[in-house]
Order: sequence, then structure tokens, then C-alpha cells
Amino acid sequence: MQPIISVQNLTKTYASGFQALKNVDLEIRRGEIFALLGPNGAGKTTLISIICGIVNASSGTVIADGHDIVRDYRAARSKIGLVPQELSTDAFESVWATVRFSRGLFGKPPDPAHLEKVLRALSLWDKKDSKILALSGGMKRRVLIAKALAHEPRILFLDEPTAGVDVELRHDMWQMVRGLREQGVTIILTTHYIEEAQEMADRVGVINRGEIVLVEDKVALMRKLGRKQL
Ligand SMILES: Nc1ncnc2c1ncn2[C@@H]1O[C@H](COP(=O)(O)OP(=O)(O)OP(=O)(O)O)[C@@H](O)[C@H]1O
Ligand SMILES: [Mg+2]
Repeated sequence: MQPIISVQNLTKTYASGFQALKNVDLEIRRGEIFALLGPNGAGKTTLISIICGIVNASSGTVIADGHDIVRDYRAARSKIGLVPQELSTDAFESVWATVRFSRGLFGKPPDPAHLEKVLRALSLWDKKDSKILALSGGMKRRVLIAKALAHEPRILFLDEPTAGVDVELRHDMWQMVRGLREQGVTIILTTHYIEEAQEMADRVGVINRGEIVLVEDKVALMRKLGRKQL
């Protein structure tokens, strides 16, 4: 089967001269949950940001669902949803307006029923008329997820989805991610926690200092970890 995302020889050197990604090759399989594991500063957000079209690569190519992310960026971006690591939403907008606007950004026709389904799934329906600034941190994070799902992406990136999230919500989010996968959405999440990768992922990639160190089926990886080979 064709990979849904194909990253080839991707390099990123920031203006400061710092090389954040070094010849990264990575293929994401259609319909899988892929966990990208790595320490602070490894390059996880940089890699995701390039695939999502927020940061320019220095060299290399990325194909997302058949679309080159540079030459065919509009089509590529419409397939992708991103839940960013940093909370950044318009504080004075209502939840509903924010989510509706996100969908419109991708040129999709309004679909209140879809938005209602997303908000209900994230337990945000009763907050739909609240201003973002009046929500708790965990709720704001859920709004970011709702925004990312508003245009029905086939690929969802979650950059540290459970940072700052309580245990109960963390389990709810895992549940939600599995539900999305059942609907055929491919999911790539980053995490610092091996347990989270273990709980969620079909495959795990480890990145360190801008290099992909390994990519393995979770089960095989856990066996190795058990034998302390890593
Ligand atoms: N705009 C920028 N200019 C210069 N260097 C940057 C920039 N953004 C990121 N970096 C550097 O690139 C490296 C990778 O950063 P990145 O945010 O991709 O790491 P990360 O794996 O997401 O880390 P974390 O787990 O802390 O989120 C870091 O050393 C960081 O300082
Ligand atoms: Mg990051």
C-alpha cells in the first residue's frame, strides 16, 4: 500500500544556522497511529510544522496523500489537521465561532451537524457559546482539537496532545484518537512519554538531535525495551 505521508531526505537549517533536521526519511502508513518520540529539542515540532506547511524545509520533499506539500500545498493542507503544541486561539471568540471559522479556512461549505458532532465528542458542546478565555487549560486544548477536526482531515497531527492534561481527560483523548482511527483517519502524535506511545501507537519513531534513530512496530519495540537493548 502507498504510504499516506512520504518524507524524503528532509533537512531544516534555521536562520540561526542551527540544523534541526538531518536527512529525515519517514513513511506513514494509511490508517495507522504513529507516535514520534523524542526529548526536548529533538525536532518533532519542526518536522510536523514542515509537513503541515508552517515551516519551510531547507531541502527534501514531502508528499501528503499524493500531494507535494510545496507545489500542491492547497490540496495537501486540506487533507491535514494540526493540533499545535502551543495554545494559540483567539481569546475573545466563542468556541462555536472559532471552530466554524477553521472549517471555512479550508474552503469547506458550512456543516453545523459535523461541528456539533465534533464538539460533543470532545465534551465541549455545553461550552459552545463560551469565549475561549473563559475556558480551562484542558478545555482550550480540546478546542484546538475541535479546530483541527473541523474540516474533516484525513491526516491528524497531535503535537503533545496530553501535555498539561489531567489523567481522566488523557484517557478520553486516547479514546477519541482511537475512534478517529476507526473512521479511517491517520494519526501522528508526538510525545515525551514512552507509556503514551505504548498505549496508543501502532508504530513508534524515535527522533534525537534531528535524526530518526529508529522506526518500529510497537510490539517489536516493547520486546526490545523489555530486553533493554534500546
Ligand atoms: N524558529 C527557530 N529558530 C531557530 N531554532 C529553532 C527554531 N525553532 C526551533 N528551533 C530549534 O530547533 C530544535 C528543534 O526544535 P523543535 O521545536 O522541533 O523540538 P521538539 O522535538 O518539538 O521539542 P519539544 O519536545 O521541546 O517540543 C531546537 O534546538 C530548537 O531550539
Ligand atoms: Mg515540540
